[in-house]
Amino acid sequence: MNETLERWSTRRAFILAVTGAAVGLGNIWRFPYITGENGGAAFLLLYVAFVLLLGLPVMMAEIMIGRAGRRSPVQSLGHLAAGAGASRHWRWLGLFGAFTVFCILSFYSVVSGWSIEFLIASVNGDFVGATPAEIGAGFEAFLADPRRMTFNHTLFLAMTMLVVAAGVAKGLERLNNLLMPMLYLLLVLLAGYAATTEGFVPALAWLFMPDVSAVTPLVVMHAMGHAFFTLAVGACALMAYGAYMPDHQSLPRAAGAVAVLDVTVALLAGIAIFSVVFAQGMDPGEGPGLMFVTLPIAFAQLPWGALWLSVFFLLLLLATWTSSINLAEPMVATLQGIGLKRGHAAAVVGVAVWLVGLLTVLSFSSLAEWRPLFGMNAFELVSTIPPEIFLPLGGLLIAIFAAWVMPEAAARGALGVGPGGFALWRGLVRWVAIPLTLVVLVAGLV
Ligand code: PFF
Repeated sequence: MNETLERWSTRRAFILAVTGAAVGLGNIWRFPYITGENGGAAFLLLYVAFVLLLGLPVMMAEIMIGRAGRRSPVQSLGHLAAGAGASRHWRWLGLFGAFTVFCILSFYSVVSGWSIEFLIASVNGDFVGATPAEIGAGFEAFLADPRRMTFNHTLFLAMTMLVVAAGVAKGLERLNNLLMPMLYLLLVLLAGYAATTEGFVPALAWLFMPDVSAVTPLVVMHAMGHAFFTLAVGACALMAYGAYMPDHQSLPRAAGAVAVLDVTVALLAGIAIFSVVFAQGMDPGEGPGLMFVTLPIAFAQLPWGALWLSVFFLLLLLATWTSSINLAEPMVATLQGIGLKRGHAAAVVGVAVWLVGLLTVLSFSSLAEWRPLFGMNAFELVSTIPPEIFLPLGGLLIAIFAAWVMPEAAARGALGVGPGGFALWRGLVRWVAIPLTLVVLVAGLV
């Protein structure tokens, strides 16, 4: 065991760190627009079911492996596989995870950069008195300007890699302590405001009254992918954090708390956003711009709207910051594992992600019609295939490793549960999570 490895200083710090990884663009930006594109309530129901049946047990598996290995994901997997008498090739799973987060971070950083742009605009009072049409047009104009987008992408990635270079635990704890409660509170207020608008009831109906006919294998696959994405599961990123988890903390309780926080943040954001959509007669399937257009409209109608909006984008930015730090961690840990200094590893990862991120930037202007695969442009590819195929595939392999390959004693010790709890968890992983992921992936792909 690596005795010098940092540990999160308190139990709360670990939960907050994992919540910081989980809560981000996935909840506030991606969840509403994906739900909008996939028909509303039926999608939401599937997504919640997947969080409970797959996301949660596999999240526990992933953190457990990290805590048992106490190394970078690649090294932990190799070490634990050797200890179990299994193939060393399990190490490749750690590399696959690093590749997955690489793809995700490339678009995540660009979209987080949009928050920087919107934060500055709202501090400037640009949205004060603007009509919905003007807000929509302003967003379109921003997307068409690759220079502004590149600037924000660069700034955001630099912010991320600086914290990563400084070492995760030190950089993160204090930030998370403050950020999550504030973000939550603001979303509660926003949803409370939404309840006073005429869009509220249609939004609730649309979000919670499922239309079963809207469900296709592809919708099911989108819902499963989003469950993995929102919980940050399947890319060995939480495995990297698990390596820092204190020995005596209850893993199931921590994972459960994170899942509840994560889903409720998404629901609050969804209620706020769709109330605006229905009050304004907008299209729920508007796509990636949904949040960036609806929330300025909502806040524009509130007293002190510009101030609230600025606070919101600040909190969103901080939330995406903690997620992107988590996204970068497996890559940096992997490079560290082959002997690079932490700072150098962070620099290499930062430059590589920055370059690939430019493809996403240009997907909204000059490369919009460049569709190299499956009829999708670069942004559509990186924001669809890694979350919806790579994460479930990674999660599947993590689950197989945890529940079939690791010896019971090692797994149970790192999970920190009694025999009954262990049997329940392992039964859920073996007989529900693994087959379900497999079936949905195959059905979706076919
Ligand atoms: N869970 C993050 C979000 O919802 O924004 C995104 C994410 C982080 C996905 C880390 C995957 C990951 F490994």
